[in-house]
Amino acid sequence: MDQSNQQRWARPSFPVLIGAVALSLFAAYGFIHSNRPPHHGYAPGQHVVSAPSAHYSGGFQPAPLPTVLDAQDSLTEALKKAGVVVDEGNSMQVMEQTMYYALVAQQEWIKTICETGFNGGHSSVTWLSSSWDATLFSFDLPHADYGPPARAHVNRTFPGRFYITDGDSTVTLPRFREANPNLHCDVIHVDGGHSYEVAIADLRNFYHMASPRRHIVLMDDLRCKGGYCVEPMRAWDQAVAEGWLNQRACYTKSDGWRGWCAGEYVLKVE
Ligand SMILES: C[S@@+](CC[C@H](N)C(=O)[O-])C[C@H]1O[C@@H](n2cnc3c(N)ncnc32)[C@H](O)[C@@H]1O
Ligand SMILES: *[C@@H]1O[C@H](CO)[C@@H](O)[C@H](O)[C@H]1NC(C)=O
Repeated sequence: MDQSNQQRWARPSFPVLIGAVALSLFAAYGFIHSNRPPHHGYAPGQHVVSAPSAHYSGGFQPAPLPTVLDAQDSLTEALKKAGVVVDEGNSMQVMEQTMYYALVAQQEWIKTICETGFNGGHSSVTWLSSSWDATLFSFDLPHADYGPPARAHVNRTFPGRFYITDGDSTVTLPRFREANPNLHCDVIHVDGGHSYEVAIADLRNFYHMASPRRHIVLMDDLRCKGGYCVEPMRAWDQAVAEGWLNQRACYTKSDGWRGWCAGEYVLKVE
């Protein structure tokens, strides 16, 4: 660097100084006066939830993304306190997946989320913390050790928004649908049993539960090279090939070990 250049960096010109000061004032003003929505649903450092509402004077505001990560930390902390370790794969291990799920659930029209595979509650926490008011219906074969503390934590953090049905989803999903014929899922997340049989049954059963107006189907462990990806992929690809599932987009982590797809059902017009 030559002398004159160094001088220029060392002593900013008057207009540059004025600009920097103006910019700082502008940023400070914006920060102080930012029209932040009230803390409904999960808020950092606040584990009790007030009455959820998606609206405030400025119109719809999506839940802040840092809240989602804070909620994940809070779950991890609760599990640690309970002295349990979640050994199975979970969506929090992949930041881009957590953020993708959060962006899906943040949307105002998402009110009902259905998923197979609760496990340690990581995806459940993503759904519930990224939406102000959506309700989650989870279906799971519970794990004896970390199942109960994970459920208790999610239920405590999001009271009235979390429902779980224990048992094999190939049995519980049809039963649930029969008992709740008017319940429709805006988001469907297939992440339960990873055998072909369970995966295709989940996809088939959720077909009849999808919101006819608009919905999103997400399935974990697709387009990836792990053994746990093989049979879910076979089920998803079959549904697409048979024409009742429309694949929108798939994502694979750069190392190739994690991936998921998004799509929607091709619903028959009644
Ligand atoms: C990969 S984990 C789910 C991870 C979770 N969605 C997350 O991202 O944190 C799969 C879960 O599905 C459950 N499961 C396995 N087979 C099932 C079945 N037939 N019906 C319901 N749940 C099942 C397992 O017990 C486990 O809790
Ligand atoms: C959540 O807590 C309520 C109130 O204690 C209870 O009735 C409900 O069964 C719990 N639900 C789950 C999924 O743990």
